[in-house]
Amino acid sequence: MQQLSDLVFVSSNTHKYQEAKKILSSFGLEIQFLKLELEEIQSNSLKKIALKKAKNAFLKCQKPVIVEDDGLFIDSLGGFPGPYSSYVFKTIGNDGILNLLTRNRKAKFVSVIAYCDNTIQKSFEAKLDGKISTVQKGKGWGYDPIFLLENVKKTFAEYDKKNNISHRFKALKKFSNWYLRM
Ligand code: IMP
Repeated sequence: MQQLSDLVFVSSNTHKYQEAKKILSSFGLEIQFLKLELEEIQSNSLKKIALKKAKNAFLKCQKPVIVEDDGLFIDSLGGFPGPYSSYVFKTIGNDGILNLLTRNRKAKFVSVIAYCDNTIQKSFEAKLDGKISTVQKGKGWGYDPIFLLENVKKTFAEYDKKNNISHRFKALKKFSNWYLRM
């Protein structure tokens, strides 16, 4: 049975919200959305960034909130851009990333979902391994056209089941397992 909740997903990124909404709905959880750009602290830890953003979001809406912070970690670049993925996307973009890479193209996407209400602060992290493609493929948002799923040989942008396997799906699954039992 679908469970209506007071839970608010706070983000400036509507793509993230649309995916999160579908994923959480498949677990029986309906959410609200507040489109808001939250200030981001500088840190090497996605978890610290996400928890701080969740606290700020809660102070703004006074309802239970979740926020998500993601990073694309590329092996041959020592994990770069990692927590700086948003800035790197805005500056050098997918073409810039492709120009930096040669042979080792292993990468992972990491998602941290942070929850905050008036008593609890908690985070849930998950990763998905993949590779960086040699050229952009498919029409998708963010890094989707260059994040290659090795087993299906498609990028996220070309794959119609992204929401069943993504870093976001895995982190939201951990979150909802906890939240729906709270
Ligand atoms: P942030 O969590 O908004 O800081 O996201 C970091 C960067 O990763 C942003 O440029 C996002 O657009 C990008 N990103 C996060 N999740 C995804 C995804 O599922 N596909 C493509 N790009 C993503």
